[in-house]
Amino acid sequence: MYHVISCDQFSRDDLESIFRLTDAVRSQPEAFRTALAGKIVATVFYEPSTRTRLSFEAAVLRLGGNVISTENAKEMSSAIKGESLPDTIRVIAGYCDAIVLRHPDIRSAEVAAQVSRVPIINAGSGSGEHPTQAVLDVYTIYQYKKKIDGLTIAVLGDLLFGRTVHSLVKLLALYRDITIYGLSRDVLSLPEDYIAYLATKGVRYIPCRSLREIPPEVDVLYHTRTQTERFANTDLQIEEFIIDKESLDYFSPHTILMHPLPRRNEIAPDVDGDKRAVFFAQSHYGMYVRMSLLHSILAGR
Ligand code: CP
Repeated sequence: MYHVISCDQFSRDDLESIFRLTDAVRSQPEAFRTALAGKIVATVFYEPSTRTRLSFEAAVLRLGGNVISTENAKEMSSAIKGESLPDTIRVIAGYCDAIVLRHPDIRSAEVAAQVSRVPIINAGSGSGEHPTQAVLDVYTIYQYKKKIDGLTIAVLGDLLFGRTVHSLVKLLALYRDITIYGLSRDVLSLPEDYIAYLATKGVRYIPCRSLREIPPEVDVLYHTRTQTERFANTDLQIEEFIIDKESLDYFSPHTILMHPLPRRNEIAPDVDGDKRAVFFAQSHYGMYVRMSLLHSILAGR
């Protein structure tokens, strides 16, 4: 693996190998303490982030590497003076061994990879993709379900602009006998090209408009925030599908509730203590998955 641009580039074998390495990183952290000694990773974020930026930075530090960072590249880098993304990437690539990039343009990671002499890791490209989030999401599902083949997964919320959902459904399509329920308001439906892609991969995709259309025995509920920052019409009001204690109790004791976070009101705090609510464990696994990805890309290079 060199660049991480899109979930299109992963095979099932790639994921299994990343998951094995993640398990090793979790169980024997001392064995990886110097894996990135002498390496510098730049985190370049043109959009806000808590988890992705800090978990990548923690991952680099835990592997013995160093970090240079612009946490608000939109205003605090020379982008504000009119510098183009390719020029910025060409320059930063001369200072470091890999660039973790979050940017509002869907093609940003691809554009950056075309001019970069070091690996580019897509940490969220507008409403397009968020591949490292999807890898950690599938890793989390595997931790709880011990398999991916044969699972039924419901994705909820903003399926139009939600880049984590776009990346997740692509990875799920690598597995056999997958059923995906897509619960959203009409205006936030999963784009047709993703639905067509899932059909070509033999994934059953079932759009729905109410929580009760999802079977109670669904294996995974994957909720997402409405990405209001992406709306051209800022007055558009979207009624959320709220998961609270009462609505969660409609589902099986074995259903897990995930969310890439941050959440707003779409998951009520009264479910946080429920053993099915795994979203904080999910974000914690993210750091280990990113350690594994960084190790695969950089160690020994
Ligand atoms: N899940 C996720 O991408 O969170 P941040 O926006 O906080 O990085």
